[in-house]
Parts: sequence; C-alpha cells; structure tokens
Amino acid sequence: MKIMLLGAPGSGKGTQAQFICERYGIPQISTGDMLRAAVREGTELGRKAKAIMDAGELVPDDIILKLIAARISQPDCANGFLLDGFPRTIAQAEGLEKMEVQLDWVIEIDVPDEEIVKRLSGRRVHPASGRVYHLLYNPPKEDCKDDVTGEPLIQRDDDKEETVRKRLEVYHRQTAPLVDFYRQRSAEGKVKFATVPGIGTVEEIRDRIFQILEQA
Ligand code: AP5
Repeated sequence: MKIMLLGAPGSGKGTQAQFICERYGIPQISTGDMLRAAVREGTELGRKAKAIMDAGELVPDDIILKLIAARISQPDCANGFLLDGFPRTIAQAEGLEKMEVQLDWVIEIDVPDEEIVKRLSGRRVHPASGRVYHLLYNPPKEDCKDDVTGEPLIQRDDDKEETVRKRLEVYHRQTAPLVDFYRQRSAEGKVKFATVPGIGTVEEIRDRIFQILEQA
C-alpha cells in the first residue's frame, strides 16, 4: 500500500498518518520530520533548511527529491509507505513519477484556513517520535509530556501565527495545484484520489479515511 496524504499545514496529516501506518504496517515518511531531525543533528542540510522552514517557505525540490529517493529505497519501504508532506509542488510530484513510484491512494484532508490557525497555535509535539498533540483537542495524558516516553513536548518554531499564515499562503500557491494534478491522474486510472472533510474529531476523520481505504 502506497498512500499519500495531501493537505494544508495543520490539516491533520501527521495525526492521521499514525493511525494509517499502524493499521497497514507501513512506515510514515514525513519530509518535515526528516528535515527537523537534520536541524537537531546540525547537519549541513539542517543548517540550510532551518532558515527556510522558520520563514514558512519550501526547501528546494532537488534536496527533497534526494531525501525521498534515499528513504524509499530502504528495506522497510518494500511493502509500501505513507507519504506525509511530500510531494508539495508539481515538480516534486513529477520527480516521484520519474522514480517509477506508483501511488495507490492520494487522500486530501480539507480544512478551512481559520481552523488551521487555531489548531497550530495549540499544537505540541514529541520531537523524537513525531507524535502530535493539541492542548485542547488531543491533549497528552500528563501535562505537556509524551504519552509513551514521558519526555517533554515542545512547540514548533514555525507554529507562530505569522509563520502559519505564510505557510498557508505557500500552500495555496505551490501545493494546492496538486489536487488538480492528482484528480487528472485519477481520471487516467493511474491513482485513486479522495477528499475527506477534515472538520470533526480526530477519530471521526480517522474513520472517514479508513472507510475510503477499506471500501476499495
Ligand atoms: P511539515 O512538517 O510537513 O508541516 P506541514 O505540512 O506544514 O504540516 P504540519 O506538520 O504543520 O501539519 P499536519 O497536517 O501534519 O497536522 P497535525 O497532524 O500536526 O513541514 C514543515 C516545513 O518543512 C515546511 O514549511 C517546509 O519548509 C519544509 N518541508 C517539509 N516537507 C517539504 C517538502 N516536501 N518540500 C519542501 N519543503 C518541505 O495537526 C495539527 C494540530 O491539529 C495538532 O495539534 C493536532 O493534535 C490537531 N488536530 C489534528 N486533527 C484534529 C482534529 N480533527 N480536530 C482538532 N484538532 C486536530
């Protein structure tokens, strides 16, 4: 199973990725998590990416495509994977096709911009695992601690309101055109495409996605 989750920043891709990966036994490939790991490790890639990410812009396509090519060639991807936050431009989607990766499903999670700002201001993350929480909508069991390890949760640098608005603008300009790109691929029978309304509880959205994947 090769699945891609498409949606604005804060639409719930990371949250839903965890359920899907657990159910289908596939790894989650989040380019955002990979870039944040490079920033924490202080690699050359991390140093280049940090300023771009903090400004809410996109890291260049060639860098991202190299990261993805290396990741999907690893043995744990042999039976499929879930792409979270990639592709994000038409050039990245075409680059993926050139790697001869055939996606089974593209699922778009559709959430209005006003809701995104609320969600991202309350988001807290466990950096080492990528687990995602929200202070009100999806709180950890213990105040500001990861449910599994008990380690502290942090707020991402790019979740400040001004940066969130910039990320939304970049999403509408550079990533939203992928909806039509994959609708077209779907009409050609190359991939299955569905849009899931992203307003509702985390569990409601999860069930909508599972219903789509399982009906097929
Ligand atoms: P990335 O890490 O990919 O961020 P993003 O796409 O902006 O997505 P987010 O992680 O912010 O949100 P999400 O949709 O996963 O939502 P979540 O589940 O956390 O990218 C960061 C940066 O890296 C980019 O800006 C760019 O610079 C760079 N980058 C990454 N990939 C790149 C690429 N391919 N090309 C170029 N540059 C790239 O949920 C959000 C919050 O809402 C959480 O608090 C959650 O608990 C809560 N929530 C979730 N679902 C619900 C619900 N149903 N109801 C209420 N609250 C909910």
